[in-house]
Amino acid sequence: MTRLSTLDDLGPLAGRTVFMRADLNVALDGREILDDTRIRATLPTLDELRAGGARVLVYSHLGRPKGERHPEMSLEPVARALAQKLGTEVRFAEDCVGPLARDAAEATPEGGVTLFENLRYHAGEQRNDWGFVDALAGGAEVYVDDAFGCAHRAHASIVGVPHSVARRAAGRLLERESSALGRLLAGPEPPFVVILGGAKISSKISTLENLLPRIDVLLVGGAMANTFLASQGAEMADSLVAEDELDLASRLLADAAAGGIEVVLPTDLVATDRVPAGPDDVGTVQECSGREVPSGFLAVDVGPATSAAFADRIAEAKTVFWNGPPGLFERPPFDIGSRTLARSIADSTAFTVVGGGETVAVTNLAGVADRIDHVSTGGGAALEFLAGKKLPGIAVLEIEA
Ligand code: 3PG
Repeated sequence: MTRLSTLDDLGPLAGRTVFMRADLNVALDGREILDDTRIRATLPTLDELRAGGARVLVYSHLGRPKGERHPEMSLEPVARALAQKLGTEVRFAEDCVGPLARDAAEATPEGGVTLFENLRYHAGEQRNDWGFVDALAGGAEVYVDDAFGCAHRAHASIVGVPHSVARRAAGRLLERESSALGRLLAGPEPPFVVILGGAKISSKISTLENLLPRIDVLLVGGAMANTFLASQGAEMADSLVAEDELDLASRLLADAAAGGIEVVLPTDLVATDRVPAGPDDVGTVQECSGREVPSGFLAVDVGPATSAAFADRIAEAKTVFWNGPPGLFERPPFDIGSRTLARSIADSTAFTVVGGGETVAVTNLAGVADRIDHVSTGGGAALEFLAGKKLPGIAVLEIEA
């Protein structure tokens, strides 16, 4: 039997140099941070390490710069946001390895925090190159990983550095993620309702297949629902339908029926006659049946009857997991189905978990994130965890129970 090592296993940290991997991969518009969920989520671990007197060296990636310096993917704006939220100075080092990084690490006082520049400015990070691992680990004595969003990546800062540091543990965020998502896999209290949206069924197929034996009700929205509806013979007109997934959709519906799982597909949809280009250009909008989208129209949201059916199932649930919005939430008024769904989940007394960047964005837009039991900071990582895969970033932190 193994378990995740946590900060409680590390012993006193006063004066120790801690290498902390965080996932500060936030959405930026220029230098403006569009969603600070991931920054806020790292605060409990940072506060605890600082209070213990550690010298905290924080590392993250941002975007996919592929081994080159791209100024628009600099973590510098994140350092400022972190300082503001922590209420203390956060030094920023313009590189994560080399003399600049060494000087910044040495200058970090007890209880102080330094954030290092984007790990992915160096190709060695994604290659898990040993030379890069050595340069990164430097004089760190303790490794703490709070980057749940990257736990599915076998990169240098995730799996290499922990092997070169004497003591290692999960931070509070990684611990919370693993326990909340683990609860969905290990005997979730029934009825267990899963809500899936987004575009492609295939991107979530292993997650869906692993969850199916555990769930009681599956609610489907978004373009994914179009494919399920089309597989049942519905006329979807110009709606986004993954033609290559029609057989897969039919097979999943048959598997669900054989397993006694109720699948709720949209009975009504909101459709428009053109892909909305902006808030003032949403086209001619009309509600229609889930069996037939009018010719020349495409479905962009679920209708009120579908939202009500979703709400009924969620109200009866004891466990809920949601990934993927049911409509084009970034283009009002096609955000109504997504916001209504977020509120139904927030109103539920079930154990509720939401995950995925867009899904988290909807819960923030609807102002209900603090009424959800667990808002996962992982998109791909959460789906792989729920697909039953052993994530490399978690495996490396496991110890004998
Ligand atoms: C994410 O945003 O899902 C994580 O930060 C991982 O980023 P990646 O998909 O670029 O590895």
